[in-house]
Amino acid sequence: MDLTTKWLGLELKNPFVPSASPLTKSLGMAKQLEDAGAAALVMHSLYEEVVVAFDEGVSRFAHQGCGHAGARQDQNFPCELDCYLEQLSSLKSSLGIPVVASLNGVTPGGWVEHARELQDAGADALELNVYHVAADPEESGFEVEERYLNLLELLEDQINIPINMKLGPFFSSPAHLITLLEPAGAAGVSLFNRFYQPDINIETLRLIPTLHPSTSTETLLAVRWIAILYGRSKLSLGATGGVHRAEDVIKLLLAGADVVHLCSSLLQHGPKHLGVLIQGLEQWMERQGFGSITEVRGRMSQLNVADPSELARANYVMMLDGYSPDAAGGPGM
Ligand SMILES: Cc1cc2nc3c(=O)[nH]c(=O)nc-3n(C[C@H](O)[C@H](O)[C@H](O)COP(=O)(O)O)c2cc1C
Repeated sequence: MDLTTKWLGLELKNPFVPSASPLTKSLGMAKQLEDAGAAALVMHSLYEEVVVAFDEGVSRFAHQGCGHAGARQDQNFPCELDCYLEQLSSLKSSLGIPVVASLNGVTPGGWVEHARELQDAGADALELNVYHVAADPEESGFEVEERYLNLLELLEDQINIPINMKLGPFFSSPAHLITLLEPAGAAGVSLFNRFYQPDINIETLRLIPTLHPSTSTETLLAVRWIAILYGRSKLSLGATGGVHRAEDVIKLLLAGADVVHLCSSLLQHGPKHLGVLIQGLEQWMERQGFGSITEVRGRMSQLNVADPSELARANYVMMLDGYSPDAAGGPGM
């Protein structure tokens, strides 16, 4: 069974790539992921605001007379950035699989400076975790999209490793934006970043941050958009969000994904879950008579299904109109 795939110009042994998560903070855990079958790893993100907060904290500390001025130069007092770079180098020297660094910047200077440092530390590619919640009513959709394009253009001039952009789903025309990313310098996209919603505590009347693990049904969001993009963009297509079962992986590959990313399922079940998914994929391929991922990829993309409109609006009315409360276990009519 040939599970090889190509992603961001990298040749991978299979399409399973753990996405950014705390798992890569431990070298031992990263090794377990590799041993369980991960074809590449995306590191947890380096957050510019954490780097800045750390540096400011150290600077205040230094000004209070503790003698740690220029902490980044002080080997005994590594900062957030140094720890990240060190972890990246350790992962690179201990693992045989590609390691993708992940950066969440805030300022244009921060994105560029840190991207260069990640490249120099040996990252095989760079993922941009642009976690921008467009909450400013003054900012138009066009301006939001320009943020992404400008960032890519800025980085493309400065670094030469492939750039993968992790995008949220909230664009008025995601497919259009994605086709603009490639000429702006991206090598791939990960669809979709998960925006965490603040919850409301109704007793204390305070906002509380929430982080719920995903479920398999979330996979269908990426299934649709990857199926629409397959064959229409030269970008590598990575799917993130809701990959828990072999069925989820299979659907995303059929839609046209080059790789599938996993986070919640690995946090819940541990690295060995990769083996379960790989086995499930192989068993299905064998049952269906597929010999390689190339034969599977895009078989259910918009270009290849009998009725391409099914991936857009078609069936919307039929599905809602034909809905029976009985099917959901509700009261009969
Ligand atoms: C605990 C936790 C930490 C995460 N850290 C990062 C991160 O540092 N950078 C990032 O881009 N995404 C991060 N993510 C998002 C995941 O990489 C992934 O895109 C998201 O959880 C959806 O995938 P899943 O359904 O497999 O969990 C994190 C998710 C979780 C649950």
